[in-house]
Amino acid sequence: MPTSIEEIGGPSLPGSHYRRYHLSSYATLYEALGGAEAIRDLVNRFYPKVQAHPLLAPLFPEDIVPVMEKQILFLTQFLGGPSLYSDEYGHPMMRARHLPFPITPERAAAWLDCMSAALVELSVPEPLRKLTIERLSGPANHFVNTDSDPSAQ
Ligand code: HEM
Repeated sequence: MPTSIEEIGGPSLPGSHYRRYHLSSYATLYEALGGAEAIRDLVNRFYPKVQAHPLLAPLFPEDIVPVMEKQILFLTQFLGGPSLYSDEYGHPMMRARHLPFPITPERAAAWLDCMSAALVELSVPEPLRKLTIERLSGPANHFVNTDSDPSAQ
């Protein structure tokens, strides 16, 4: 029986992030993805895609850094890591926080596509990639609050 991440291999190993990785060895997606550093890498890859996406870019402020910082805190907690977002901002109320923005089904799909592309770029293997996207699909679809964006017509 492996007793440590070093023995079974895992994201903490140098070289390939996910060499000899065993999903069943991790209690949470946060750990399986590689913990704090991996969440930061993911967010750093994700937002440039959001900012380049024609459906998503118009919703976000030019200075994306504060959004990135909040997303690092939130994804950490949402994927099973420490409750960094709630410690700082209280109850997430994420659907409510998204209500000011017209989130269509197409925008939810675009958000998930950007996340998927970021996971691919970081060489996150299957089934971990699929599981992460499945986990994020719940909130993404839940945040849909309109069928169409009136300002885009
Ligand atoms: C469904 C498609 C989504 C769209 C179009 C979207 C869009 C946005 C926008 C426009 C903001 C505000 C940026 C600002 O501060 O001006 C925001 C904030 C945020 N979003 Fe999303 N989002 C989506 C899905 C998600 C999902 C699935 C998550 C997490 C699982 C998430 C987590 C966050 C967080 C943590 C913030 C910062 C909240 C705060 O102000 O404290 N979003 N999002």
